[in-house]
Amino acid sequence: MSKDTLTITDNRTGRNYEIPIQNGTIRSTDLRQIKISEDDFGLMGYDPAFMNTASCQSKITFVDGEKGVLRYRGYPIEELAEKSTYLETAYLILYGELPTEAELKQWAHNITFHTIIHENIKKFIDGFHYDAHPMGMLVSTVAALSTFYPDARSIFDPESQRKQTYRLIGKMPTLAAFVYRHSRGMPYAYPDNDLSYTGNFLNMLFKMTEVKYRPDPILEHALDVLFILHADHEQNCGTNAMRSVGSSHVDCYSAVAAAAAALYGPLHGGANEEVLRMLREIGSKNRVPEFIKKVKAGEGLLMGFGHRVYKNYDPRAKIIKQVADRVFEVTGRNPLLDIALELERIALEDDYFIKRKLYPNVDFYSGIIYEAMGFPVEMFPVLFAIPRTSGWIAQWQEMLSDPEQKIARPRQIYLGPEKRVYAAMEQRRSA
Ligand code: SDX
Repeated sequence: MSKDTLTITDNRTGRNYEIPIQNGTIRSTDLRQIKISEDDFGLMGYDPAFMNTASCQSKITFVDGEKGVLRYRGYPIEELAEKSTYLETAYLILYGELPTEAELKQWAHNITFHTIIHENIKKFIDGFHYDAHPMGMLVSTVAALSTFYPDARSIFDPESQRKQTYRLIGKMPTLAAFVYRHSRGMPYAYPDNDLSYTGNFLNMLFKMTEVKYRPDPILEHALDVLFILHADHEQNCGTNAMRSVGSSHVDCYSAVAAAAAALYGPLHGGANEEVLRMLREIGSKNRVPEFIKKVKAGEGLLMGFGHRVYKNYDPRAKIIKQVADRVFEVTGRNPLLDIALELERIALEDDYFIKRKLYPNVDFYSGIIYEAMGFPVEMFPVLFAIPRTSGWIAQWQEMLSDPEQKIARPRQIYLGPEKRVYAAMEQRRSA
């Protein structure tokens, strides 16, 4: 009769061990009993970059990389993108259920009435160079929010968690828009609480001298769908940073700043910016084969392709391609799309990419839309961080409420020098 256990024979000692299997995993701490002597520390698992390590149990997002499946709290991303809104999806991700009409109305009100930021924050946004990268400015200003809301240190207080959630989701678009306006040398445009979440964001970004900004409904909706697609993605690099930094019991603003800093990296959320630079560098469809050849020769990455989990088409990329068509009806077609489509066509037929299961990910097409909407490439990672804030908070709250979680502190394999005696200056030689 089969048992959910692993039997391990340690050939160094001949001893056998039976390790329970649960949820397709074994507990790494169960390996510590495997020793060669009483004073032996015991076995550890070694897993650089956590290629095969589950760091937590979570009920928020499910990804099946082989099948290209993404669900938030069980709802397929395709359905949410078609039928939901970002604020409704953020509520779902945070609280586990779709809100009732009254709950959604109250939730939208609470977020809307936390869009204003303290006037002093403008002073240090003004202190950045004109050409400071918006993501560098965003990471800094989010961290600074912790100095304006010291009540956020009560991380286990449900009321404080709710208040900081309203503030973070409400203020991220304002901070993003303010850093954008600073980089353009333009006056700040304040929130307009009559507008939707994305409508108000577009207002704060692009309002000129008109008395009231009227967002284009097609662009407003397209951005809302893009925000839904970017809201959470289980234990990605940025979320791992949120959980790890949050495990020290620091306030959520400092943890979100750490998560946003991780997202900034070109291998993660910064990839959408790199995709645009790559498409511009390629310049035309007929230069795609030459570029692919360089990638296959190891002379660079095909940015926007590949994923640690998806070994199939990223379902978000499929939806983004559909959104692109709607946006281009308003903005006109972005010629870079033709280069991207040709890259995808050739890559999906090429054994180099097929063998490595490299498909377009969420970042491959998003930047083409953002550019068509008038965003500079430096703003693209910022457009990723805004919606991902709800996912980061949800994962942070889940970590804090998980009785098994404690401060994250991995072990290591030490390969450095054995004990040495301090060398006097005359005994030293240059390395
Ligand atoms: C996001 O984790 C998440 O969920 C992230 C995210 C989210 O929502 O939070 O989905 C968002 O970050 C999407 C990924 C955006 N990044 C990029 O588009 C950058 C380009 N992609 C690669 O850097 C890479 O694919 C990663 C970082 C995304 C994944 O890297 P892995 O899982 O560590 O894979 P790997 O680097 O070990 O690659 C395996 C092989 C290698 O070749 P060999 O050594 O076997 O010969 O595939 C090759 C890699 O060289 N490879 C690529 C490639 N990605 C991997 N070759 C060319 N172009 C690429 N893009």
